[in-house]
Amino acid sequence: MTNEKVILAYSGGLDTSVCIRYIQLVYKFDVISLTVDCGQNEDFNAIEEKALAIGSIKHIFVDAKEEFANNYIIPSIKSNGLYEEKYPLATALARPLIASKMVEEAHNHRAIAVAHGCTGKGNDQIRFDVTIRALDPNLKIISPIRDMNLTRDVELQFAQEQNIPISLEAKKYSVDLNIWGRAIEGGNIEDTYSEPPADAFQFVKFDNDSSGYLELEFENGIPVAADGQRMNIISLVSYVNDKAGSSGIGVVDHIEDRVVGIKSREVYEAPAAVAIIEAHKDLEKMVLTTHELRFKRVVDEQWSWLVYSGLWKEPLRSDLDKFIDATQKKVSGKVKLKMQRGSLRIVGRESRHSLYRDQLATYTARSIFDQSSAKGFVELWGLQSTVANMIDKVNRSQDIEDGGATAR
Ligand code: ARG
Repeated sequence: MTNEKVILAYSGGLDTSVCIRYIQLVYKFDVISLTVDCGQNEDFNAIEEKALAIGSIKHIFVDAKEEFANNYIIPSIKSNGLYEEKYPLATALARPLIASKMVEEAHNHRAIAVAHGCTGKGNDQIRFDVTIRALDPNLKIISPIRDMNLTRDVELQFAQEQNIPISLEAKKYSVDLNIWGRAIEGGNIEDTYSEPPADAFQFVKFDNDSSGYLELEFENGIPVAADGQRMNIISLVSYVNDKAGSSGIGVVDHIEDRVVGIKSREVYEAPAAVAIIEAHKDLEKMVLTTHELRFKRVVDEQWSWLVYSGLWKEPLRSDLDKFIDATQKKVSGKVKLKMQRGSLRIVGRESRHSLYRDQLATYTARSIFDQSSAKGFVELWGLQSTVANMIDKVNRSQDIEDGGATAR
């Protein structure tokens, strides 16, 4: 009798490598490993060899870069996707895509379960499980690290006993990587006061003093050209990762609220995400009305929260996407960024949808703005505040009089 099969999402890192062996030994299932390329630019042959050497009976590789860029990164750019105003959601965006491939392959291979290497302490377990259930509520989900409450130290020990090779980096940090960013957790980063060492970073360089410009062109909210060259979204993101990263742009270091209630110190490098979202936000300010902008900020924040918290398949997300898409019809134009030694500044923007009117804004004689019309407006604008302060003052002096009366 052959064993039942499980599709395991496999990255080649510590957690997923020990999972292959645990699933065989503890759960007694056959493992089919699945690696999904979301632009992590790794040696996928080596990853496959490693999976097979540990004991996977078959390895599947899926190139999902295009899908990731078009269906996940682009909507996130349009939504200025940043969790807690900082984290560009790289890992959060890739998880539902990987989950959808797991389910697809489980069906293709008649597997009874899907498995992932998430711990029970993070957000990734939520993103995987919720998406998998949304796609097929009957698939069993196996999560060895969470099920057995394993720590990284125990995993390292097990890997050593089982002759499972573990990279030097994996011994130091827990890393997750795709084209939209790289997350670095664990190791000395768990000390909230210690600065992450330069060698923790892969894209961001800290030794470049020269300053440079980057011009990004958007059409309907989507970046379509960089430095005057039209590129597809994947090439553009890689180009900006290299260029902004070499100017030291893109490090995010913050205290993050995980869905499970833990506050964690998170370090990311995401040069393209940081630069593109900054530019996109700036262009929106030029072409959207103040009313659209105020409302969109709330929508963007909600969108980021849904994605962060694993609710990619929640209908509200696609409802919000419809509003966001509607606003993006005007977000076309160019933004000029200046980058130097880790600082990024927008120094220019232009758009044919621009609501900026020189004749209204100028302080020179070109002005067509009639200042006399401001007077009445300002009076009415502050009317309720004026009344409220007046009433407050009257009541306070009344209270003092009354207080004085009682004292006598
Ligand atoms: N805190 C981030 C998130 O929730 C990054 C998770 C990174 N995962 C990892 N295995 N290191 O999206």
